[in-house]
Amino acid sequence: MKIVPGPASRQSGEQIAKLLHVETVPLVFKIFPDGESYVRLEGNVRDEHVVIVQTTSPPQERRLIQLALIADAAKRNQAAKVTAVVPYLAYARQDRIFLPGETISIQTITGMLKAAGVDELLTVNVHQEKVLSKLPLPGKSVSAGALLAEYFKTKGYEKAFALAPDENALHIVEQAKRILGDGCGYLEKHRDRYTGKVSTEKKTLAVQDKTVIIFDDIISSGGTIIQAAKILRDLGATTVLAACVHPLLAADAEKRILESGVQEIVGTDSVESPVGKVSLAPLIADALTH
Ligand code: R5P
Repeated sequence: MKIVPGPASRQSGEQIAKLLHVETVPLVFKIFPDGESYVRLEGNVRDEHVVIVQTTSPPQERRLIQLALIADAAKRNQAAKVTAVVPYLAYARQDRIFLPGETISIQTITGMLKAAGVDELLTVNVHQEKVLSKLPLPGKSVSAGALLAEYFKTKGYEKAFALAPDENALHIVEQAKRILGDGCGYLEKHRDRYTGKVSTEKKTLAVQDKTVIIFDDIISSGGTIIQAAKILRDLGATTVLAACVHPLLAADAEKRILESGVQEIVGTDSVESPVGKVSLAPLIADALTH
């Protein structure tokens, strides 16, 4: 196995290679004045299992194209197999047709990657795991729920209540609860498919006088976390923290979340962000060898 740390995940790629004691293949890349990407592999990949590590957080189109170009370069240079490790997989939330005329973008994107030379995909907390069986190439998703919970445990929050802001994040919360151990629950969230606006229903939860950590797969605009935090405060929670696997934190999301009373935001390094405090390298290295 040889690892190619892509332009978007140089540090993670190096860390994973170090943990696995495998070589990295140097990559030359540049952006042309008109915005197009250029890549060139500088090492020998003939007959190798090549693992490209490249996250696809914004600018997602550029990063997806770079990933496709690297995969193609690997195959043109006789790589035996190409695995794409994509810690944050862009376009994964549109995983079914919600309104007539739409596309299933996760299938479109993975189809493009397959055509470029990717043989299999490894990602972290894909939005809906059940979509993996419908992709045009083999795909696996591992979960960072336990790693996030461990972070809070080391910071002294081992008796926190774990909350999912919607049912989709419940599996992350269940992993966290095994480590934090003071109960868990979830809220009901609805999204207007035309406006994109989300609304979260109030409900009874045993959080009075407790520290609560909200766990989600993604924080983008921050709207989901802000609504959940308000409900928790109304229910008497004393301290509210937020954790996510993919801290996209679009625009001023971080500021708005903190202003809403959330004490701290913790994310992984799947996306470069000021809250990326948890490294995914051990999880990914383990998944590549099992
Ligand atoms: C969607 O269901 C996801 O699990 C996240 O809850 C969502 O992407 C968060 O987005 P935002 O931060 O914009 O509310």
